Amino acid sequence: MKDETKLVHGHRGPKMERLDVRTVNPSIQRGSTYLYDSIDHLREAKAKAVDLGIASYGIGGGDITLHFQDAFCAIENGFRGVAVNSGLLACTLPLMALLQHGDHLLMVDSVYGPVRTFCDGYLPRMGVSVTYYDPLATLDELDALTTDTTRVVYLETPGSLTFEMQDIPAIAAWAQDRGIRTIIDNTWATGLYFKPLDHGIDISTHAATKYMCGHSDVISGAIVCNKETALAVEATRDQLGLAMPPDEAYLGLRGLRTMAVRLPVHWQNGLKLASYLAGREEVSNVLHPAMEQDPGYAIWSRDFTGASGLFSVVMRSDLSWEQLNVFLGALKLYGLGYSWGGFESLCVLQSPKTVRTGSQWPRPGIGAGYVLRFHAGLEDADDLIDDVEQAFTAMKKA
Ligand SMILES: Cc1ncc(COP(=O)(O)O)c(C=O)c1O
Repeated sequence: MKDETKLVHGHRGPKMERLDVRTVNPSIQRGSTYLYDSIDHLREAKAKAVDLGIASYGIGGGDITLHFQDAFCAIENGFRGVAVNSGLLACTLPLMALLQHGDHLLMVDSVYGPVRTFCDGYLPRMGVSVTYYDPLATLDELDALTTDTTRVVYLETPGSLTFEMQDIPAIAAWAQDRGIRTIIDNTWATGLYFKPLDHGIDISTHAATKYMCGHSDVISGAIVCNKETALAVEATRDQLGLAMPPDEAYLGLRGLRTMAVRLPVHWQNGLKLASYLAGREEVSNVLHPAMEQDPGYAIWSRDFTGASGLFSVVMRSDLSWEQLNVFLGALKLYGLGYSWGGFESLCVLQSPKTVRTGSQWPRPGIGAGYVLRFHAGLEDADDLIDDVEQAFTAMKKA
């Protein structure tokens, strides 16, 4: 069965007790306490919960959380889905699960900022050391950074600010040979356009906040584990009490129903907008791996089946912060904001070189100007382009 069908057809509601009909969607059952008919029933239910990888009282989120987990896990061919309260937690929980005192982590230098903050703040307190590696590092370069205690290599592809593509199958095979676990932040592609576990990755994480939920009204995270890592991730979730509550799980499942029809519009709108921007004299580089001129295009077209609506452009280096502020202020259809993956377009000013420690930015061939990150929403692409055009005109006049 195709992913599109899986997302629409599974996960129906339970039979209603008195009407004997079911709803299209499973219900939200809010509850801290689960009631059992007898001690035998309690024992059975507890054993069932262990099999399902969920707590046997309200802290587990209940049936709807299991539905959401199963739905996103199925499209990535995972062993177990684990739903949590934020995309940030989806990235950090697997690190907490797989690393212990004395271990070493190889972390991609283009990682989402708050994960870097976690690696610099929390992990050293737990006795874990971290080395940042260039997202374009060769396997030899990774070897040179590896120590006897390296246990995990973490990828984010493409990097959600600067859009470098990593050779995921090659890194996964390299790590497997050395007994090192791999985690990837797969939020950009979603499980519809890239399936990390099929390429040898152990854990795929998502800010479900973005395309899965898709409406800019939920913060949530999704983790897809293989058989070897699922128990550790679930145990750490339960030790910390971090399962997803029912309302968020309901909205996650609802978002997944339409993800396959939303994503192609984000993808095409993003490409049209990026192509327009590539022709503007104010822009020195477009960073979008699904465009043929991008250095990451070969990997993207080999491994991915689609693209989302998020990409960046590097502005000409003589354009000042003030000029770009005028540009941003003149945009009418783009919100100025950090999250992405909702139905609306966004644009935000970034400065990647201030955070990098394991790689050079700008890299050779890329201008030294400010980086503008665009999220192409579900509006009409020509309207989005017209709006950018009038903002450039406003910037010139200022
Ligand atoms: C690539 C990436 N991963 C993870 C996250 C974290 O998601 P959340 O906002 O749900 O914590 C974000 C948020 O912007 C992100 O861009």
